[in-house]
Amino acid sequence: MFGLAKEKSLVGLDIGSYSVKAVELKIKEKNENVQYEVQKIGYEPLPHDAIVEGTIIDSTAVSETIKLLFDNARITNKDAAISISGNSVIIKKIALPNMDPQELAESIIWEAKHNIPYPYEETNVDYAVLKSPRTPEGNVDILLVAAKKDKIANYSNAISMARKNLVAIEVDIFSLINAFEVNYPEIFKEKTVAIINMGANITNVGIVERGVPQLFRDLSLGGYFFTENIRKELNVSFEEAEAALKGIPGKNINADQFAAVLTMNIRDLLDEMEKTFSFYEAGEKRDRRIEQILLSGGLALIPNMISAFELKFRIKTELFNPFKMIKYDEKKFDSIYFNEMAPVFGVAVGLSTRKAEK
Ligand SMILES: Nc1ncnc2c1ncn2[C@@H]1O[C@H](COP(=O)(O)OP(=O)(O)OP(=O)(O)O)[C@@H](O)[C@H]1O
Ligand SMILES: [Mg+2]
Repeated sequence: MFGLAKEKSLVGLDIGSYSVKAVELKIKEKNENVQYEVQKIGYEPLPHDAIVEGTIIDSTAVSETIKLLFDNARITNKDAAISISGNSVIIKKIALPNMDPQELAESIIWEAKHNIPYPYEETNVDYAVLKSPRTPEGNVDILLVAAKKDKIANYSNAISMARKNLVAIEVDIFSLINAFEVNYPEIFKEKTVAIINMGANITNVGIVERGVPQLFRDLSLGGYFFTENIRKELNVSFEEAEAALKGIPGKNINADQFAAVLTMNIRDLLDEMEKTFSFYEAGEKRDRRIEQILLSGGLALIPNMISAFELKFRIKTELFNPFKMIKYDEKKFDSIYFNEMAPVFGVAVGLSTRKAEK
């Protein structure tokens, strides 16, 4: 009351290599029900070479963009949760015999030392016990996450340069799965869904089987590679290639050539996706089948992406809406965020559904 017992919210900050997105939610808990409402939202593009292969090269550009984003979106809360992905984050699902928490923690350190391809001292390790029912052998499934310390330092440095407080670090695909659970509770519990985030450099893939995450992959795929190929093949500028990719072809764009490059790029992307899906479906003896695909990230917005997925996999595919179950005041914000752009906010929404740890 009177703002004293207010839950402390945080800003979900998704720092991609193409754009930075921020979402701050108001979280209301009533009995078992949690309700979310958008407090603040913002989006700013980043200069092309500020983040290369998942590493912040130009920390000044990144921190200035974060500051600009907070200013433009009038975000005053300085507590931010970010997420990381790519090859300096390792996620492993392991099964361990049921044991007490102390023993479990020790076993996990042992597992981390043996399962992670980097020296243990160079990584931060965390884990989560999956909600899955115990296996018949009495094992518990554990998600082991290890992130390279230099990657964390690289990102936290940019956050402090932007004068924000880093209060939590997540992994992109976990944030996305959070947003999926919040917004599609029935489908989350009842179906096997591939939730995909196609950005500029990285495509995160998660497969969730009736509420239990089963597979995670970060693929080196995204819109940046599309733009590069268009630029080279059509001999146009990066900006022209980029505009064409977004469906606004300029006068230097040869329509047939463009269509051919795009088709080839989409085909390669779908082939990689197929490998990931097959890996999951062939993974265990029991019958596994993906029933639905949800697409998010900037690259999901290009014309024909949904139909290309449906044609290839014959699986119901739609754009992921991270605001499906989240309230927002249409008068207060630019509606573009909740309509055309909604699928790029998946990770930021997932991050902001966490509460600041007190
Ligand atoms: N309408 C669109 N709006 C924004 N981006 C688009 C659109 N259409 C295609 N794209 C492409 O999507 C990519 C950006 O997506 P997104 O903002 O999700 O990436 P990111 O999160 O910054 O990158 P990453 O996570 O891979 O580092 C770019 O390659 C961009 O060219
Ligand atoms: Mg991204």
